Amino acid sequence: MMEKKNIDWANLGFGYIKTDYRFAANYKDGAWEEGGLTQEANLVINECAGVLQYAQTIFEGMKAYTTADGRIVTFRPDLNAERMEQSAKRLEMPVFPKEKFVEAVLKTIGANAAYVPPYGSGATLYVRPFMFGSSPVIGVKPADEYQFRVFTTPVGPYFKGGVKPLTIRVSDFDRAAPRGTGHIKAGLNYAMSLHAIVDAHNQGYDENMYLDAGTRTKVEETGGANFLFVTKDGKVVTPKSDSILPSITRRSLVQVAKEYLGLEAEEREVYLEELPDFAECGLCGTAAVISPVGKVVDHGREICFAGGMTEMGPVTKKLYETLTGIQMGTIKAPEGWVVEVKSR
Ligand code: PLP
Ligand code: COI
Repeated sequence: MMEKKNIDWANLGFGYIKTDYRFAANYKDGAWEEGGLTQEANLVINECAGVLQYAQTIFEGMKAYTTADGRIVTFRPDLNAERMEQSAKRLEMPVFPKEKFVEAVLKTIGANAAYVPPYGSGATLYVRPFMFGSSPVIGVKPADEYQFRVFTTPVGPYFKGGVKPLTIRVSDFDRAAPRGTGHIKAGLNYAMSLHAIVDAHNQGYDENMYLDAGTRTKVEETGGANFLFVTKDGKVVTPKSDSILPSITRRSLVQVAKEYLGLEAEEREVYLEELPDFAECGLCGTAAVISPVGKVVDHGREICFAGGMTEMGPVTKKLYETLTGIQMGTIKAPEGWVVEVKSR
């Protein structure tokens, strides 16, 4: 057994802690170099690099877990690789090949095995693959050179306060334009959300609910997670939109709802006006896992989810327990969902 780092796992927040290794590969002259692990966490890039001037950067977010029987695993890395491919194409960046993406992720986790929190600690190792334009561009165009990297950081819950249901507000700002970049994981989508999130926090809210920019009548997502609703008769409903990020957690939960819990699940447009009809609401994502929402505030009008005001609602809780059970190896996973990491 490899020695774990001396970290207070139970009290970790969602922050950056430097771990020992990261993966880096450069793209130059139209091709990716092999790349490999490095201990160097800092980068030196030109002042005119595409990422610095025109925000040419994309990323992914995944987690590594210690299973009940002590293995280190990660969850559906192939889907992160595919989504990063979509992100790269939309920002005119070279695609980092899927097999190499998965290999780089597994290698980086393995090299940082001492930082993968123990089973039952409540913490996980967050994995952040990303890619950016590294060569100088001053006219608005894609960079010629890129770097793909993967780093890891041990994390606790994304939202402070643990399982206490969140209060979120309907934002007056939009997150993504119709036919824009909301469906890809580009840094620019998060830069433009910073003002809205700081303002929400200042006003005492945990997060923003963004509406569709075209009509401002439909629920999109929050700054870092998709929504999941449960109807009063126990059906799971998730918002359908071309301008939200296709969450891997949400897609997995829909399958879990149908195949493990025998629930009906539907992906469809969800109107702000129908929120009072739902019994439970949650945010789902890699960082958020499933975080219960107790209340949505729409300009002073409070919409409360009776099924989950003081604690996670019953259906949300079953979904949470089943998904985390699959991820931690106590519940049998669908083929290909859980991928084992060899520590080196
Ligand atoms: N929506 C946004 C805007 C996100 O940043 C994330 C996080 O990755 C998600 C949704 C959830 O996606 P996933 O479940 O793939 O982590
Ligand atoms: C994730 O869930 O992995 C994300 O990237 C969300 C981010 C806002 C922390």
